[in-house]
Amino acid sequence: MKKIGVFTSGGDSPGMNACIRAVVRACIYHGLEVYGIKYGYDGMIKGEIIKMQSHSVSNIVQRGGTILKSARSTEFRTKEGRQKAYDQLKKHGIEGLVAIGGDGTFTGAKIFSEEFDIPVIGCPGTIDNDIYGTDFTIGFDTAVNTALESIDKIRDTAASHDRIFFVEVMGRDSGYIAIQCGIGGGAEIVMVPETETTIADVIKKLDTGLRKTKTSSIVVVAEGDEEGNAAEVMAKVKAENPKNEYKVTTLGHIQRGGNPTATDRILGSRCGIAAVEGLMAGQRNCMAGVMNDQIVYTPFDDCISKSKPINQDYLKMMNILSI
Ligand code: F6P
Repeated sequence: MKKIGVFTSGGDSPGMNACIRAVVRACIYHGLEVYGIKYGYDGMIKGEIIKMQSHSVSNIVQRGGTILKSARSTEFRTKEGRQKAYDQLKKHGIEGLVAIGGDGTFTGAKIFSEEFDIPVIGCPGTIDNDIYGTDFTIGFDTAVNTALESIDKIRDTAASHDRIFFVEVMGRDSGYIAIQCGIGGGAEIVMVPETETTIADVIKKLDTGLRKTKTSSIVVVAEGDEEGNAAEVMAKVKAENPKNEYKVTTLGHIQRGGNPTATDRILGSRCGIAAVEGLMAGQRNCMAGVMNDQIVYTPFDDCISKSKPINQDYLKMMNILSI
């Protein structure tokens, strides 16, 4: 293998740039040519492919977002789209790919590599931390810390006004960000898609807290909770128990930006190097992740189909800490 392409796809996450940098530098270190593909699969289809040098990735290790840009491509979902993408890779002589993204990115990579026999290795870039095969995803740690900073501020005003705040954090199908923010931010309740928390549970918990020593509360709601988003949960609670004063804050895309933490820079760098060295060693159609501080290559099939359950100890901790 002489030429490798690298791209970012799906929702951006802090640490993606550190990962791109590691891929580029590892390729050059090992004597390979490396190409950056802009706008993920969309850019691959359109041939937005640029040769990268060591200096192309100077001064980006500390920056959030992705210098290669990102997109969610509908055209790549079609056979014709994937054929166009393959033709572009052929034109540039690219023989292997590093795909930085989440499960949608890996699903596309798996189909593509099976259809066209091109080796792909993924790096887990998503704030959601919902990828099987790695203890943490690149961007998760930063997103949690960003959300926590906001929750600390909300707590100040909640306490001053004796209010109950419903704070919505990201995580489409996953409560990882919510649970860590709940514990780290001292919330009373965390609502995540992985476990059922009913409106009656919320009301009971808020009520007992307020009857004792609490005058304000924080409820962290993962956007994908089965009871709805934070605004919907608040409306349901208010309908049942209108006597308290409720507010909603949706943290939204703030969680996706910002300078990556040291943890995310290092994780991105490790996975990027491992992806390049994996391709060189003949690995394909798998993700380079880190489990128990060791690089692990997990087949895309498992990354996509297996779920990574929330640690039940965390939920138990919430119950203890929020009395
Ligand atoms: O997958 C990462 C993520 O940030 C999710 O947490 C969120 O649901 C989604 O992306 C938002 O996507 P978009 O930026 O396309 O609105």
